Amino acid sequence: MAAPAAPDILLTSRPLDEYCGLFGLTRAALAAVEGPVLDCPGGAAGLTAEARALGCHVIAADPAYAAALPAVTARALAGREAMAGAMRAAPHLYPAPRDLPPDRYLRSWDRARRLFAADTAAHPEDYVAAALPRLPFADHTFALTLSCYLLLAYPGQFGPRHQLAGLLELARVTAPGGEARIYPLHDGDGRRCPHLGDLRRELGRHRVGSEIRAFPRPGDGRTRRILVLTHVRSRIHRSAGVASR
Ligand SMILES: C[S@@+](CC[C@H](N)C(=O)[O-])C[C@H]1O[C@@H](n2cnc3c(N)ncnc32)[C@H](O)[C@@H]1O
Repeated sequence: MAAPAAPDILLTSRPLDEYCGLFGLTRAALAAVEGPVLDCPGGAAGLTAEARALGCHVIAADPAYAAALPAVTARALAGREAMAGAMRAAPHLYPAPRDLPPDRYLRSWDRARRLFAADTAAHPEDYVAAALPRLPFADHTFALTLSCYLLLAYPGQFGPRHQLAGLLELARVTAPGGEARIYPLHDGDGRRCPHLGDLRRELGRHRVGSEIRAFPRPGDGRTRRILVLTHVRSRIHRSAGVASR
């Protein structure tokens, strides 16, 4: 299955603390992860750079990395401007986290973008040009996989079949005992994925366990929900495209 064209998908630059808030993580929990972490899509996020300082090895994967770094950061700047416009036009759909005023929130993206650019130049091997649903990593490579603002956020680009293939791929590269965490469960208009139940049933048929995990959102304590994938008693093989045994 070919990867979708990406032009309508924003390239954004969230910092590590925002990732923690989105995925129910803390800096201490990230530092304690035993094994590499995958961030797919990595965009121009600060996660890889900032986690490095914690002693946590994060590999970022994104098809955008096939372009030269200035082109990636230019797209990230455009993504930041698009988000600024969306926050002005629809603050109920795009609230700043932790009760930050929008300008401070967007400055956190600017900082993350700068960290991303410096880290990409210093550690290009940690930024892999790759697109779901086919990643160039061996089965079970990552102790933790994070997928932020892609598969369920852009239903116009990812239909149900493509979403399933992407979720299975995220599970395949995640180690048994590890987790793949996916956020959000809704699209850019705040509409929850209508076929999430069907996707979870299909994942189960492929021996990928799933749960919807809820936790308090930082800042306002409202409930945030993520999809968490785990292996069910078996190994997931790319050769089968899905789980086997
Ligand atoms: C909204 S950004 C999210 C970036 C980062 N996770 C963040 O939250 O700041 C979406 C990213 O998905 C990337 N993308 C588009 N198609 C993709 C695919 N098939 N597989 C992986 N990443 C893809 C885009 O290049 C873009 O960087």
